[in-house]
Amino acid sequence: MSATKYNDPLDFVDVEALQKLMQQDSSDQAIDVPGFTAYLRASVIGQDRVCEDVPRQINRRMALEKRTKPVGVFLFAGPPGTGKTYLAKKMADFLKRTLLHFDMTNFMQAHTASMLFGSPQGYVGGPGKLTSDLDATPNALVLLDEIEKADPDILKRFLTAWNDGFVTDVRTGKQISTTKAIFILTSNAATDQLDELSERYAEDPDNLRQSAVKALQEAKFAPEVLSRIDRIFIFKRLTGLNIAKVVTLEIVALVDSLGFSVAKGGISPEIVHDIMKRQDKLGATASSRDLARFIEENIMDDLIAAKGAEHKQIRLVKQGDAIRVELVP
Ligand SMILES: Nc1ncnc2c1ncn2[C@@H]1O[C@H](COP(=O)(O)OP(=O)(O)OP(=O)(O)O)[C@@H](O)[C@H]1O
Ligand SMILES: [Mg+2]
Repeated sequence: MSATKYNDPLDFVDVEALQKLMQQDSSDQAIDVPGFTAYLRASVIGQDRVCEDVPRQINRRMALEKRTKPVGVFLFAGPPGTGKTYLAKKMADFLKRTLLHFDMTNFMQAHTASMLFGSPQGYVGGPGKLTSDLDATPNALVLLDEIEKADPDILKRFLTAWNDGFVTDVRTGKQISTTKAIFILTSNAATDQLDELSERYAEDPDNLRQSAVKALQEAKFAPEVLSRIDRIFIFKRLTGLNIAKVVTLEIVALVDSLGFSVAKGGISPEIVHDIMKRQDKLGATASSRDLARFIEENIMDDLIAAKGAEHKQIRLVKQGDAIRVELVP
């Protein structure tokens, strides 16, 4: 009788694939709500209500043993540059879930649906990006950014994913489960109304939801899409020192990425104030992307020029209209 020879019984199993499956089990279990909340609050400024509510919601939904729908379909609504996309990324980080990020401005025309869901047999193209990525990582966090820009028919194709717990790849015909996934949709439609409603109904979630749905419907969101959203989180416009915090964070991130560090008290208040006023002047159209670009344009060259310097700590001071980088000995 011949026996199977081995050193390690796991030689017979693709261990990496097994570990991936085990990781999915663990991401199904209840989560550390206080830890998650603290993590979000430490990263995302001025959105405390959202940072507290998101972990609670996720925890409740993950505790359900049998799910026939995704863990959650959440809408992050609010003005540009308030941390909607950023918070979704931080969620994926904390939950150790793969982030599948789709910028829905790329799906404004009906024919682009094939990029997400696959092309029919006989047509150019292959399986869809959404379907194949979800097949590979069923517990992903799917971020559908700027959802209101997507073609309405494309949005409707997400309804089976949210209602029935699966999507079908058009190319392969394979049904792919969405019951382990989290869907985050972001939008800046109806920003002013939502801002006002979130104040008025701060303590009354039922009325808030109803009136928010109404406002979004008036902003042309399809009712069947709205009715499938589990929860609407309203992001607040950043004001005062919170804007200063975001500005400062952006500066520090850029400086760090170039191998320098900022000295304590090393950013002159005039610089922060100027940038805040500039953002304010740009008004509702100002986004944090403009902010990051502005900061880059104004300090990047100096920092690159200083790269060879012996000292790696810097201070930023205002010089006329420009920003000067000073090395701290
Ligand atoms: N509340 C915040 N806390 C910390 N950083 C923030 C916050 N808001 C914005 N930022 C910074 O600005 C960058 C851009 O923000 P983000 O992309 O999340 O904005 P958004 O709300 O998604 O805007 P849009 O509606 O234009 O997509 C982030 O990567 C982050 O660095
Ligand atoms: Mg965004």
